[in-house]
Amino acid sequence: MYTSKNPYRPVKTIVLDVITETPTIKTFVLQPETPISFETGQFIEFSVPGCGEAPFTPSSRPSVSDTLEVTIMRVGKVTTRIHELKKNDIVGLRGPFGSRYPVELFKDKEVLVIGGGCGFAPVRSLMYKLFEIRGDLKKLVFRGGCRNPKEFLYRDELESWTNKNDLNIRLTVDKSDGDTVWKHDVGLVTTILGDVGMDVKNGFAVVCGPPIMMKFTTGTLLDMGFREDNIFLSMEKNMSCGIGKCGHCRIGTYYACKDGPVFRYDAIKKFPNIWD
Ligand SMILES: Cc1cc2nc3c(=O)[nH]c(=O)nc-3n(C[C@H](O)[C@H](O)[C@H](O)COP(=O)(O)OP(=O)(O)OC[C@H]3O[C@@H](n4cnc5c(N)ncnc54)[C@H](O)[C@@H]3O)c2cc1C
Ligand code: FES
Repeated sequence: MYTSKNPYRPVKTIVLDVITETPTIKTFVLQPETPISFETGQFIEFSVPGCGEAPFTPSSRPSVSDTLEVTIMRVGKVTTRIHELKKNDIVGLRGPFGSRYPVELFKDKEVLVIGGGCGFAPVRSLMYKLFEIRGDLKKLVFRGGCRNPKEFLYRDELESWTNKNDLNIRLTVDKSDGDTVWKHDVGLVTTILGDVGMDVKNGFAVVCGPPIMMKFTTGTLLDMGFREDNIFLSMEKNMSCGIGKCGHCRIGTYYACKDGPVFRYDAIKKFPNIWD
């Protein structure tokens, strides 16, 4: 039933573990029968037999190919079924597909990574990659925002990043909701970009999060002086085939599945409704 040769056919994959991250988000540790090597930013199609499939960006280390992790928010039909999966269940994976973050451009440069909400998933995989090549980067800055502390993904892990000497990091929530343990900022993620201390004319920025967050964050980055061609966005459009055949994921003249999901802002800014 499963083979990796045909891009439409999923690879048989075992669920090794299920980690509850927040009330609506779980991370699935998966072991495909044939290892799947992805580069940070690319996505895979995750299928549950008898239910359907949906695209997700792995949140794990790109250097590990025998297992991979996907962090999934329960929003509808397929994701609700995925959330019911247990250890040892069998699912299917296709991919990886699409473009990756252009980490080779970041050599000797200052890099700002901004994640919001469920956008922490692809950003975590990017940060693992950047930690691996940290010696090649001039400066690494991370800014993360979420609605409230309860919904903050990978909270313990991000907390441990705050102890890294070679990372400039700030975290914020829109509202603290009375969480007495939360010791970071309160306010939108755009309110904690003022002190990044970067050479913005030559620096790179990567943004991943809900469309409304990406829209306002990109606006703030441009106001700060970042160049349009130095801003990279992960565009999560509705997808079907995942391989540039069906046209579901069109952004202007591009297909998000094939030409994206990672786009340079200047390449897509002229198209209407990019933030929908
Ligand atoms: C490249 C890419 C990477 C993604 N990575 C992740 C990830 O790492 N983690 C994660 O939780 N989600 C991710 N998503 C979103 C995820 O694919 C959708 O949440 C999922 O397809 C919803 O399927 P469903 O059947 O549960 O929802 P449906 O029953 O189909 O719809 C429920 C709601 O979700 C919206 N929706 C449906 N499909 C998508 C979609 N493809 N993108 C955005 N909204 C959608 C619908 O408009 C509707 O409001 C990614 C999407 C893309 C395109
Ligand atoms: S999902 Fe089919 S063309 Fe992009």
